Amino acid sequence: MQFASVPKHPVDSRFESIFKYHPVMPYDPPAENILDWEDIAETPVIFAERLSERLDIELYYKDETVMPSGTWKDREGFVSIHRLVKNGVTDLVVFSSGNTGTSLARSASIIKGPRLHLVVPWASKKRIETCPEFFNADYVTVHFFDGSNDECIVQARTMARTMSRQVEGGFLNYARREGLKLFALEVMFGWGKPVDWYVQAVAGGIGVYSYHKAYRDLGIESQCPKLLGVQAEICAPMVNAWRAGASVLEGPHIPAAVVPSDFVRVLRTRKPTDSYPVLKKIMDGVGGRFEAVSDQEILEGLRLLYADDYYKGVFHETGVVVGLEPATALAGVVKGVFEGYIRPGERVLLNVSGAAKQGDVNMRWLEGLL
Ligand SMILES: Cc1ncc(COP(=O)(O)O)c(C=O)c1O
Repeated sequence: MQFASVPKHPVDSRFESIFKYHPVMPYDPPAENILDWEDIAETPVIFAERLSERLDIELYYKDETVMPSGTWKDREGFVSIHRLVKNGVTDLVVFSSGNTGTSLARSASIIKGPRLHLVVPWASKKRIETCPEFFNADYVTVHFFDGSNDECIVQARTMARTMSRQVEGGFLNYARREGLKLFALEVMFGWGKPVDWYVQAVAGGIGVYSYHKAYRDLGIESQCPKLLGVQAEICAPMVNAWRAGASVLEGPHIPAAVVPSDFVRVLRTRKPTDSYPVLKKIMDGVGGRFEAVSDQEILEGLRLLYADDYYKGVFHETGVVVGLEPATALAGVVKGVFEGYIRPGERVLLNVSGAAKQGDVNMRWLEGLL
């Protein structure tokens, strides 16, 4: 959504939650009867005091694990299904490694209009089964397919053709971009502190794109912080291309295969050829970058999330454990501090993008911390 002029009031305080940002979003609660379609709260931002001291930075966690399905994708779910209703689309075929699919399923099950046909890798079967309450069989069918994320994306396209249905466009999907943009709007207008770095684990890269888009849509692109996109070493195509100084993602940057790893469940996109060129330009514009971290560093990142008391408390109260993707992102922060591109005293906002789903985290990894 590009605004000819930035709305004077991006926040409409007559509304709660995501509805208050409607002046800069593609939905219109005053004109549409949609308030019953979502009730998620803004997620909290927590100062990680101990870890900040250790790293000599000012580190904050935006805690997306409190979302109903446990990940930041729930905002995306609402905007996507709302868009299908608005455009009269009755069925959509969607690839998901688990989290986006769960969020879309949740919204489809609340809105009870469009039907979803999810294509999910077998490897994510347990993850999808974490939240059965979000999968109303009248509106959601799940097709498990034995393959990598990229192979499942191709399978989703084939299935859509066979069924004469539309397929969801991944990185190019407008509604998903808008949905994730809400995260940045909450940071800007809900929390309100400017940051030097926004850090996120990256697979296809739509989150980083959407974060930047929030600033662009508001006409304040120059205020967008530096962006750090972190990938796992076993599947780091964007990092490979970035290190080579490439403006497009090509063969040599693409991992031949994604070796199995207990520390990498979601971040397994080998060929983000559509998103990388766009993200490369954004990174160059904001002085951001990509980083890769090893399995060992992801494990250390996970443990570091428990250096402060906040997530210990969350675990004792709710049983929720932070997922491997935020651990990957935090490992990137540690590396950035070690390498010196995250400088002492800088304010860093970490997207704690999701809770661990069933089978993601071995509790022995957190031994002595909880
Ligand atoms: C919890 C979590 N964190 C990070 C990511 C990576 O996000 P992106 O799609 O923006 O690369 C995903 C993607 O599915 C995710 O589910």
